[in-house]
Amino acid sequence: MLAPKGKPHCIIALFATLAGLVNFQEAYSNSYPNTAYFSFRNYINESYIARGVVNGMPEWIFTWVWSLVLNIWFIGLLFGVFCTPYMTDNYGRKFSLVLANIVSLIGTILCTAAIAIKMPELLFFGRIVASSSCGVSFITLILFLQVNNK
Ligand SMILES: *[C@@H]1O[C@H](CO)[C@@H](O)[C@H](O)[C@H]1NC(C)=O
Repeated sequence: MLAPKGKPHCIIALFATLAGLVNFQEAYSNSYPNTAYFSFRNYINESYIARGVVNGMPEWIFTWVWSLVLNIWFIGLLFGVFCTPYMTDNYGRKFSLVLANIVSLIGTILCTAAIAIKMPELLFFGRIVASSSCGVSFITLILFLQVNNK
């Protein structure tokens, strides 16, 4: 349906759209949390205060929690990367790409819900879901672009 059929401007448009859709999650989720450090600190602390932890989260525990929230991204990414050959060999590149983007959307919804319901654990889990889908889509996109457009 969207096959560029060798037309250069269509190929560039397709590549740009795919790169935007697939790589946005990766770039955004890696860079945004660091710029919003204080907002996340307040969010996590207030979530614990709302649960009845009277003095909130001590600074040193927060440092660990924050490191976990940030770095779980790469564990999920690695997991996704290792799953990619299985996915693309068994289900094809296009299906893997679409599935990875759907899972990425689910991860994003989980992270958004985690903020809304003040549940940092869900944010952590949502980041694993989103990052593993990023690992799949990242590698699948490269395969897709190389093989489909020779
Ligand atoms: C959480 O809030 C409490 C009470 O306001 C404060 O003492 C504590 O330092 C805060 N912890 C973090 C990690 O911001």
